[in-house]
Amino acid sequence: MFSKETYVNRRAELKRLVKNGMILLFGNNESPCNYPNNGYAPFRQDSSFLYYFGLNRDGLVGVIDIDKNKEYLIGDDIDIEDIVWYGSVDSVADMAASVGVANTAPMAKLKELCDKAIGKRRIHFLPPYRFDTKIQIMDLLGIHPSQQKTLASLDLINAVVAMRSVKTAEEIVEMEQAAAIGYQMHTAAMRLAKPGVTEQYVAGQIEGIARSYGSMVSFPIIFSQHGEIMHGNPSPALLEDGRLVLCDCGAETMSNYCSDNTRTFPINGKFTQRQLDIYSIVEACHDHALDISKPGVKYFDVHMSVCRLMTERLKELGLMKGDVDEAVAAGAHAMFLPHGLGHMMGMDVHDMEGLGQIYVGFDDETRPNLEQFGTNALRMGRRLQEGFVVTDEPGIYFIPALIDDWRASGHCAEFLNFDEIEKYKDFGGIRIEDDILITSDGCRFLGKDRIPYHPADVEEYIAKNR
Ligand code: GLY
Ligand code: MN
Repeated sequence: MFSKETYVNRRAELKRLVKNGMILLFGNNESPCNYPNNGYAPFRQDSSFLYYFGLNRDGLVGVIDIDKNKEYLIGDDIDIEDIVWYGSVDSVADMAASVGVANTAPMAKLKELCDKAIGKRRIHFLPPYRFDTKIQIMDLLGIHPSQQKTLASLDLINAVVAMRSVKTAEEIVEMEQAAAIGYQMHTAAMRLAKPGVTEQYVAGQIEGIARSYGSMVSFPIIFSQHGEIMHGNPSPALLEDGRLVLCDCGAETMSNYCSDNTRTFPINGKFTQRQLDIYSIVEACHDHALDISKPGVKYFDVHMSVCRLMTERLKELGLMKGDVDEAVAAGAHAMFLPHGLGHMMGMDVHDMEGLGQIYVGFDDETRPNLEQFGTNALRMGRRLQEGFVVTDEPGIYFIPALIDDWRASGHCAEFLNFDEIEKYKDFGGIRIEDDILITSDGCRFLGKDRIPYHPADVEEYIAKNR
């Protein structure tokens, strides 16, 4: 949590941007796992609520009445039974004071505040993503959940996106801390992932590292020998000598700022030449994105430049053919890279994705072609600004079902050497991912220590540390 002034200033700026009406920012409620008292842990607050109100407790709603220049923290104090089981906690009034909010009210009063405004003034809310919040909005505003995404306030979405996109120095300190935990998780995975142990064992151990810092992983850990499955869950399969394993994971700090890195490494500690052939292309693409990312450049153009480089190199390897620009324009590279180069990152690992990717990652000059496979999975195309944090995560994947599908339909056949590609059906996939901060004249990595990624460094780290 930052100082009171941070939250006071953020709310003041939000009021300036949204201009009028009444803003409702819903905090999250506890999320039961299998019965009400057994919730998913740790509790995860809504990121926009955290951004403006900073309070990491369930059952709160923040109200910013712009027209009356009044702010409220709405919530109920816990009762004696809760104190018996969970210990005492700050009162709603104490919490409000800690973030500079002058007024409090119990949850039952929120309906009155809304009733007075309905039909007379604009009531702004963000698109909800939890069902209990959808029910709250239906009860308060009479809007059915099926309409809530459409009726969410675009002015509020745009204001929140504008503010949360640019990270301040104190947020970067948090993200550096998340990167440091991520470094520990990834290097532990390199030490633990030996032939004969299960994917789940390694994933569980490295999740424990994140938890030992008091918070959680920034998303469910992807740790799989089937690197070609974008979000592959760790399985009970034993790690095999000679294969690669893809590890995509990150941590959240206790203030809920994230990291997100991917490494793909040989389970026995030594890359084969065939693995290096593909790895070196992904590595070159990853480095190329760093070379050209700076303020003013569209991340869409960085993505396309990476796709061209990847296509050139896959052509040299005999997997693609034809004119590189035409191949990329046709989307042929998406056989190998069916996702975008990266996404915004902050308090959400895919930062603000719940507000609508189209508002977060794009603008009028960078609307993606939603008709084209691969391009339709882009999460970020906007012009970069100083203070943005984005991921740089190219990958090359050999997805047997996709190879069969495109071969059968002849899709992009003029650019793909299917006979050669077939030979890689047992390969898996490689992704390399780092988090970068856009600076005044370029970009830099987050994290003091770089998780080994040059093949020689990966091999050396494993040889010295297992
Ligand atoms: N690291 C997982 C993702 O970006 O989707
Ligand atoms: Mn990512």
